[in-house]
Amino acid sequence: MTLDFSLTIVTEGMTRLIVPADHCSSGPSSASMPVFYNPQMEFSRDLSVALLSNILRDGDSFLDGLAAAGSRGVRIARECDRRIGLHLNDSNPRAVELIRKNLELNGIDDASVTEADLRQILLTDSFDCIDIDPFGTPVHFFPMAIGAVRNHGVLCVTATDTGTISGIFRNACLRKYGCRASRTPFAHEIGVRNLVGFIAREAAKIDVGMSPIVSFYADHYVRTFVRIKKGAKEADRTIEKLGYCCFDPVTLDRTYSSDRAEGGIGPIWIDRTSDPQTLGELRIPAKLGTVDRIIDLKENLVSETRMNRPFFNIDEFSRKLKRNPISMSVLLSRLNEIGFATRTHFGPKTFSTSGSVEEISKAFH
Ligand SMILES: C[S@@+](CC[C@H](N)C(=O)[O-])C[C@H]1O[C@@H](n2cnc3c(N)ncnc32)[C@H](O)[C@@H]1O
Repeated sequence: MTLDFSLTIVTEGMTRLIVPADHCSSGPSSASMPVFYNPQMEFSRDLSVALLSNILRDGDSFLDGLAAAGSRGVRIARECDRRIGLHLNDSNPRAVELIRKNLELNGIDDASVTEADLRQILLTDSFDCIDIDPFGTPVHFFPMAIGAVRNHGVLCVTATDTGTISGIFRNACLRKYGCRASRTPFAHEIGVRNLVGFIAREAAKIDVGMSPIVSFYADHYVRTFVRIKKGAKEADRTIEKLGYCCFDPVTLDRTYSSDRAEGGIGPIWIDRTSDPQTLGELRIPAKLGTVDRIIDLKENLVSETRMNRPFFNIDEFSRKLKRNPISMSVLLSRLNEIGFATRTHFGPKTFSTSGSVEEISKAFH
């Protein structure tokens, strides 16, 4: 097939990629492009390269299930310093043509490429690692995606429907994710916990357990990497980590609990959403374009795993107390005198602490 749109070459990490020339240079790209390529997602692809080059084993198979131009899969095969059995798939024939060009440009001649509905592949094949990076919600690919990951393999999932998954659109959140939610000042954390909780419940339906390796919110999406553990006992252990979030908009207090209280948000994942050991041992390749941002994310996620309560925002307290916002470093040093406090990856004004809302309020005086 001859492609009927103009192309350009970009470089991400150590990989050169042929992509549509009319992709925008920043911000989300549109689903109406002939083949999808979003330069803003370089950070997400860099993080995939960093994490998967640490946790995949030599000879593992990797399915880039919604590959578009193939940017993610080609980068994994090219930049992870081990042999990866690469399979790329997209239902768009122009995307498949571009995937072939990108494999050729990068000298990869042993990858398999298919032009299929991902759901068909998930029903018939299995892989050590599967990446699902859709337009919007990933729910259409469950629970098949879990069944298609081999035992102890890794499932990587993005959701870009942030308003829905974060509970801002309550009805859509209940329809798509089976989660009763409401708008909160920590909506992006609800988004991350809702995605992990959804995967846990879908896995449990087919007697599979899982544990999150890395989960985060960035730009306009939430993403998680989870380890799949087959067996009903693993599924039972996993669903113990589901629960609810209670938020009082008057006092600003917020907690996670395994019990469903009136108005509670859930079911969502209420345990750690990232594994501090994997993150602590993560070696980040220096050649990644967004290496500084990845180091920041890693440090924040490691600190956040010490707390198990939704994050706070400085502006919530300055509004409630009718006081000017104070600097993050002053606030953290005051809270660290009486307990533990850390910045979070959810935004520059967000923090997580063992302090009570009264103690946080005092720290503003
Ligand atoms: C957001 S893009 C993927 C971006 C890509 N992973 C990257 O990093 O650049 C989603 C892709 O999924 C493809 N797609 C949508 N539904 C599909 C399905 N059911 N089966 C296979 N491909 C599908 C679209 O053609 C599109 O290329």
